[in-house]
Amino acid sequence: MIKTIPANKVEVGMYVNLPTSWMSHSFMKNKFLITSRSQIDKIIQSSLKEVKIDTSLGKDLIEEVITDEPSPIVPETVQKVVPEGLREMIRDPNLSPEKKARAVLQYSQEMMKNLLESPTAENIGEVMTTISEIVDLIVTDDETNNYLLSITSHDFATYTHSVNVGILSISLAKALYGQSDSHDMHALGAGFFLHDLGKVRVNLSIINKPGKLNDQEWQEMRKHPDHGFDILTETDKLDKESRIIVLQHHERNDGSGYPLGIKGDDIHPYGRICSVADVYEALTSIRPYKPQMPPFDALRIMQKEMLHHFHRDVFERFVRLLAAAVKT
Ligand SMILES: [Fe+2]
Ligand SMILES: [Fe+2]
Repeated sequence: MIKTIPANKVEVGMYVNLPTSWMSHSFMKNKFLITSRSQIDKIIQSSLKEVKIDTSLGKDLIEEVITDEPSPIVPETVQKVVPEGLREMIRDPNLSPEKKARAVLQYSQEMMKNLLESPTAENIGEVMTTISEIVDLIVTDDETNNYLLSITSHDFATYTHSVNVGILSISLAKALYGQSDSHDMHALGAGFFLHDLGKVRVNLSIINKPGKLNDQEWQEMRKHPDHGFDILTETDKLDKESRIIVLQHHERNDGSGYPLGIKGDDIHPYGRICSVADVYEALTSIRPYKPQMPPFDALRIMQKEMLHHFHRDVFERFVRLLAAAVKT
């Protein structure tokens, strides 16, 4: 249902349609899901007095009941790391797979952004609970899984990359392990989403450098798997499987990776899965120092020039997985 509501009543979780030309506001689109407080502030600061909301795609406005009771003093709420509405969206049986995939992607990005800004033990715990639900969705709902694979966004920020690699890797683990009980998919999912957590301990000027890193910067950057492993050990939040993923996602089959330079079977199968998804995501995303590469070209380069980096079976399964998702 489409409703018109005052601009100052917009909430996170609503799907808004701004009734004006897209040139007269600072958003890329007129219709989108509200995922953060800053989007609401921008709407209020624009000249719009009212906006339309689509209640079939997002939250409805709950009318306030006016009573004579004095309003209780509510302590100021701290922004939660997991956006309000994400779990509801995941569980909503009435959302179409396409809408569910889009909502999960946007909200997960918001969640990872919050986490990377404040990677406390409590926040890691909260995020892990939500990742478990995303894993269940991917494992049980093939249609939403396929949409998720085809709509991953191409921004190069670490939080977007983390979500994309998380979705790609969980999908690949599902394709490789099927319904086998011998793999803890929740622990794997947490490791995949958090594989680059250690970047929070690398200087931001290095993370965001628009160009090649010099030797010293590169040395700093190569510490992020160890940093990530340390954070997870210090906060005592993740299982062994997840920590292996964080530590080994840059190891390469021929021993040319880091931090340990281990090769072949010494690399854990979970680390191999994450490394394939990680390289593919980096090639297909937009980065300041390189053009974006279409999926087919990225897979071709991985096969022709980088095959010695990957475990062959894992790479071939990944190619089949993406080919199937594109066809559907
Ligand atoms: Fe990494
Ligand atoms: Fe990565």
